[in-house]
Amino acid sequence: MALYSEKVMDHFRNPRNVGVIEDADGVGEVGNAKCGDIMKMYLKIEDDIIQDVKFETFGCGSAIASSSMATELIKGKPVAEAMELTNKAVAEALDGLPAYKMHCSVLAEEAIHAALDDYHSRNKKET
Ligand code: FES
Repeated sequence: MALYSEKVMDHFRNPRNVGVIEDADGVGEVGNAKCGDIMKMYLKIEDDIIQDVKFETFGCGSAIASSSMATELIKGKPVAEAMELTNKAVAEALDGLPAYKMHCSVLAEEAIHAALDDYHSRNKKET
């Protein structure tokens, strides 16, 4: 059996939503101290809907595939729904990750939550 699913390989080779949103409404950056990988998420939010999302990941193939899939899962979704995104949902959408690579999907969950936290704290200041 192949170590990585076809979906993991596809999102690793052709990651969706790579890049930066200059005027993002929320930005989140997280890292994993053990492997040293870093993930940054940018969100554009209007009327409580995630209109656009982009990411930059300096990390392993599973981290890149997880970031890509996570952006696809939350794009166009309400903020509340994106808050519920779990690393398990990301890994399942990728048709699974090897056990020792699950932490890569955790990074994607954390990066999105960090960006949403940033969005929420910015909004608090404005009101
Ligand atoms: Fe660190 Fe994948 S090995 S995120």
